[in-house]
Amino acid sequence: MNIRNTFLLLLGFAILASCQVEQPHIADQNFNADWLFYKGDAEGAEATAFPDAEWRKLDLPHDWAIEGPFDGVKNNARTGGLPVHGTGWYRKHFTVEKAMQGKQVSIEFDGAMDDAHVWLNGQQVGNRPYGYIGFELDLTPYIKFGEENVLAVRLQPQDLAMRWYPGAGIYRNVRIKYNNPVHIPQWGTFVTTPEISAEKAVVKIRTTVKNAGQTSQVTLKTSLKDKNGAEVASAAEEVNISGEKLAETEQVLEVANPELWELETPTLYKVVSEIIQNGNVLDVYETPFGIRTIEFTPNDGFLLNGKRVLLKGVCMHHDLGALGSAFNYRARERQMEIMKSMGVNALRTSHNPPEPEWLEICDKMGILVQVEAFDEWKKGKVINGYNQYFDEWHEPDLRDMVRRDRNHPSVIMWSLGNEILEQGVADGWQLTKHLNNIVKDEDTTRPTTAGFNYYPAPFKNKLAFEIDVVGMNYWPIEYKEIKEKYPDMIVYGSETSSQTSSRGVYHLPIDPLPQRHTGHVSSYDVIVGPPWAYPPDAEWDALEAEPAALGEFIWTGFDYLGEPTPYGGRDNSTHGYWNDDWPSRSSYFAPVDLCGFPKDRYYLYQSQWTEEPMVHVLPHWNWNGMEGQNIPVFAYTNCEEVELFVNGKSYGKKVKGKDLTEIPAEFHSYPKGTYKTKYRLSWEVPYQPGVLKVIAYKNGEATIQKEIETAGKPAKVLVEADRNEISADGSDLSFLTVKLTDENGNLCPLSDNLIEFEITGAGTLVGVCNGNQRDLSSFQEPRQQAFNGLCQAIIKSSNEPGEIIVKVSSEGLENTEIKLTTK
Ligand code: GAL
Repeated sequence: MNIRNTFLLLLGFAILASCQVEQPHIADQNFNADWLFYKGDAEGAEATAFPDAEWRKLDLPHDWAIEGPFDGVKNNARTGGLPVHGTGWYRKHFTVEKAMQGKQVSIEFDGAMDDAHVWLNGQQVGNRPYGYIGFELDLTPYIKFGEENVLAVRLQPQDLAMRWYPGAGIYRNVRIKYNNPVHIPQWGTFVTTPEISAEKAVVKIRTTVKNAGQTSQVTLKTSLKDKNGAEVASAAEEVNISGEKLAETEQVLEVANPELWELETPTLYKVVSEIIQNGNVLDVYETPFGIRTIEFTPNDGFLLNGKRVLLKGVCMHHDLGALGSAFNYRARERQMEIMKSMGVNALRTSHNPPEPEWLEICDKMGILVQVEAFDEWKKGKVINGYNQYFDEWHEPDLRDMVRRDRNHPSVIMWSLGNEILEQGVADGWQLTKHLNNIVKDEDTTRPTTAGFNYYPAPFKNKLAFEIDVVGMNYWPIEYKEIKEKYPDMIVYGSETSSQTSSRGVYHLPIDPLPQRHTGHVSSYDVIVGPPWAYPPDAEWDALEAEPAALGEFIWTGFDYLGEPTPYGGRDNSTHGYWNDDWPSRSSYFAPVDLCGFPKDRYYLYQSQWTEEPMVHVLPHWNWNGMEGQNIPVFAYTNCEEVELFVNGKSYGKKVKGKDLTEIPAEFHSYPKGTYKTKYRLSWEVPYQPGVLKVIAYKNGEATIQKEIETAGKPAKVLVEADRNEISADGSDLSFLTVKLTDENGNLCPLSDNLIEFEITGAGTLVGVCNGNQRDLSSFQEPRQQAFNGLCQAIIKSSNEPGEIIVKVSSEGLENTEIKLTTK
C-alpha cells in the first residue's frame, strides 16, 4: 500500500468515525400496541403486581364510550347518550433493552380523556386533567432496563363535563421516547420567518437544548431542507450546557427564492436540528414549517402572502362519527377532504386543542386553522366543566397548546375561549388580559381571538379590547355597527348560522314551525334550530354589507355526537335533555351528516364557496300520493341561471341574484316571511312521478345539469368505496357507501332496509353509521339500517397485505360484494 493509499484509507476511517453514531438516537416510538383495559374501579391497579391477566387486550387509540350502548336514561343526550363517564384503567407491560441504560425515557400522550393519572412500576409519574392537551411524562427515575415494566393509566371522565360528546379513554396516539441526556426536549424548536420577499426568506430558529446529565459542550447543527429534502441552508453553533439545565439558542438562516405556503400550493420546508458531540449525533429533531405572511387588517380583511383570503370556515368538534373520538389519521384526512370539496379554507378547532395530526393535515392540504383553547374559564357552563381545573391548569394548558402548535403554517390565530361567561362580568377584561399575555409570551406572530355571543357586553366591559381579533358568535347583523363604532377593530364570524337539518328529510308544507316534534329537521333548510340560528344566506348578506369582516366559521362542518339541538340540546344542568326528545343523540347542525354524506346545505355552501360549475336540486322526487300537488323545488348553483324540467317540460329559467326565494321562518330581526334570499332559486311545481332535472347556464350556455328520477321499490344494494386500495398498515381505512336502489339504480330516498356486512381477508369492520340523529343501534356491529337510502361501513386494514372482501346484503334484495386491496 503506498503512502497515498494509506492516507486515503486513514481519511476514510476518520470520515467514518466522524459520522459514526456511537449512541444512536432512537426515534420516538409508537406506543399504541398491546395495552390491557378495564372499565370500572380497579383498586390498586397502579401496582406492578396487580392481576390483570383477565383484562381486555386492545391497541390505542381507544374510546370506550363509542362501544355503547346508548342509554338516554343513564347517559346524557347532550354528550351523545353514550357512557362517557366513569373510571377506566389501561395497563401496559413492556421491556426496555439493557442497552438503553443511561437514556432518558419519557412517554408522550397526545391527549387522554379525562383526568389522567399515570404510574410506572407502582410509582406515580404524573397527572393531567384536561383531556384535550398533549403531555409528556418523564419515566427515567422508575424505569427498569432489561426487565419488565408496567405502566398504569387511570382515567376518570365525569358526567356533564362538556356540552358535546368528548369520548373516553386514551383516544389519541401515545409514543415512548428514548433520548440521550443531552437532547432537544418536547416542542423544543420555534421557527419563525420575520422577513419574506421574492428573493429570500429569513428563517429564525430558536432551539432549546436540555441536558439531564453532566456539564457538556455540544454542537447544534441546524439545516433547512426544501420540499424535496435538499439542504438549502445550514448553521452550526457550540452550546455549553451544564447538568439539569436548558439552554436556548437562536440561529438565523436564509432561504433564497422561497416557495411560499399558499392554499393551492402549500409548500413545506423542514428544519433538521442535530446535536453532535465529538462527532456523535446525539439527537435529531425535525420541525416542518412553511414560509408565508399573515396579516389581519381592519379594512381589507385577512391577507395570506399579501392577498386577501375571505375565511370560508367551519367549526369542528373532534369526534369521527362511528369511530367516536378514537383518533384515526385517514378518518380525519377524509373529513378535511370533504370540507375542502365544499369550498372550506379554514377550520376552528372548537372548543379545544386538536390532535397534532389535525394540523399536519391542514399544513399539507392548505387549510387555515384557528386553534382554540377552552370553552370555559373560571365560570362553568356545565356541572363538571373545565372551570374546576382552571386555576391550577390554565397556564400550563395554554402554554403547551401554543408551544406544540406554533410551527404550523396552517395555524393563523389562537382562540382564548368560546362564549366564556366572563363576557358578562365587570372585570372580565382582567382575566382576558392575563390569558392574552400568556399566549403572547409564547408567540407574537399570530393574533389572539375569542368567540363572543353576548353582544354588546364584552365591548362594554372592555374584554373585547384585550384580544387582537374579535370573533362574533351569531351576530352578523352587528358587524356593521361594530365597525362604525370601532373602526380599528378587526371582526369576523367565529360561529355562524347553526342551521339544523337531517339528510334526505323534507317536510311539507315547507313552513318549519309545525315540524318541531318530528325528531328530524327538514332539509329545505329554512330554520329549526336554537333561537340564535339563522340560514347561511343571512351571513353572506352580512359579509357583503360589511366587507371588512374577515369571513366566517359555520357551526359546524360535520355533524357530531351529542348536542342534538333542537331536540334536547338545551341543558338544565341536572339531566341535560328533554326526555320526550330522546332518542335524538347527535347534532343536526352541519351541511354533512355524521357519515360525511352531503346534506342539501353542503351544495348551498358549494354554490357560494366554489367556482367549478355545479348545480344541485332538491327535494327527492318520490311523493307518492301527492300527484298534482305543488312541491317547492330549490336549486343551488354557482352558475348564472338554472332551468327546471319535470319529465321534459320546462318550468322556466331563474336568474341567480335576481329571482329571490322566501325563507318562511322568523329569525333574528326578520319577522316571518320577510327574508328573501338571493342565493337560492325556487319553483313550485305540480308533482308527477318521473324525472326532475335542472340545467345551469353560464354566459347563456348550458354548463352542467343534475337529475333525480322517481325510484321504484328497493331492489338492489350497491356499494362504493372511497378508496379501493389502502395501506396494509393496520390503521388505514376504506369508507364504503351503501345505497338502496330500485331495479334501474335510482336511489330509494325513503328506504331504511337493514343492511348486513360480512368481512373476510386482510381487514376488519370498525364502524357503521347512517347519519340518522336518532338511531340507537351499535356503531360496531356488522349491520346497519339505511337512513333515506344510504348507510356507511368503515373497513380497517390489517398489517398483512392482501385482499378484503366485504359482502353486503339485505333481505329480499339483490346483494353485492366489494373487493379492497391492501398493500
Ligand atoms: C354556540 C356554542 C356551540 C354550540 C352552538 C350551537 O353558542 O358556542 O358550542 O353549542 O352554539 O348552536
